[in-house]
Amino acid sequence: MNTTDAWIRERTGIVKRHIAADDETTLDLAEAAARQALDAAGLQSNDIDLIVVATTTPDCVFPSVACLLQQRLGVTNSSPAFDVQAVCAGFAYALSVADNFIRAGSSTTALVIGAETFSRILNWEDRNTCVLFGDGAGAVILEASNEPGVLSTHLHADGRYAELLHVPNGVSRGYDVVQQQEAFVQMRGNEVFRMAVRKLQEVVVETLAVNNLDKSEIDWLVPHQANIRIIAATAKKLDMGMEKVVVTVHDHGNTSAASIPLALDTAVRDGRIKRGEKLLLEGFGGGFTWGSALIQY
Ligand code: COA
Repeated sequence: MNTTDAWIRERTGIVKRHIAADDETTLDLAEAAARQALDAAGLQSNDIDLIVVATTTPDCVFPSVACLLQQRLGVTNSSPAFDVQAVCAGFAYALSVADNFIRAGSSTTALVIGAETFSRILNWEDRNTCVLFGDGAGAVILEASNEPGVLSTHLHADGRYAELLHVPNGVSRGYDVVQQQEAFVQMRGNEVFRMAVRKLQEVVVETLAVNNLDKSEIDWLVPHQANIRIIAATAKKLDMGMEKVVVTVHDHGNTSAASIPLALDTAVRDGRIKRGEKLLLEGFGGGFTWGSALIQY
């Protein structure tokens, strides 16, 4: 392919990424992340009474990855399980849905996962897309509590931009077997880049305003990991030094819905993020979809 390691590092910040093994699926990655989250929270499978999986690369048309995962984990309490599809904003969407279930009193302990095998929807001959994405999964558990946790979530979409970033066919339209690229990600990178920067800046300003917070009160920015230059632009808007931004794009590439929980997990486990700190999570993806969550960890 007509590309270089230097170009990829300089234009995206990506140094390495992970590709699922041939016999591994999104469900396998989701299960590994879920088990780590259960261990970290000290919970048993049947303590979970809601599973929301953010994914754009499910194992099957149906059942959802969430239902398959419920069976894998041995959750037998008949609690709801479903997938949310908002591409790279998927984790923000799933977190918001679970938070609202808990706020409404419908759930007490929610397992929220972002899991993707984006490598399966890449055209490996398209240098505009195939160098960017990787596979992965990350999970969090939310529990009902009187202590502050998810302070607010903010979701947006604008379907007018659908064609700038899409897999143009699917189940209902069918796949064009002659034009195989129709089953893969297509992107107008430059336009997506500009829109991502603008919408992420808007949503962080919105999040601060709704919570009556000053920029300086955010301890950590945990952004979707698409491109280091998009991340840096959002940090600049917040007047935040890069030392306060969790960056994993060099290790994972863009793992779509998995990228925020993977970044969060990295910074919690290495001790950077501490209990009580305020985290601003944000993501942007195809649709377009975008969103944020302000969290007191
Ligand atoms: N290797 C080498 N050259 C490449 C390349 C690659 N993998 N991909 C594109 N190029 C070339 C282009 O063809 C173009 O060449 P030209 O000037 O001869 O036409 C040149 O690099 C510049 O392309 P451009 O698209 O302007 O580069 P860019 O600085 O915008 O970087 C992206 C490209 C894709 C890295 C960047 O636009 C981006 O990150 N966009 C957002 C992608 C994204 O985040 N998507 C998911 C949202 S969740």
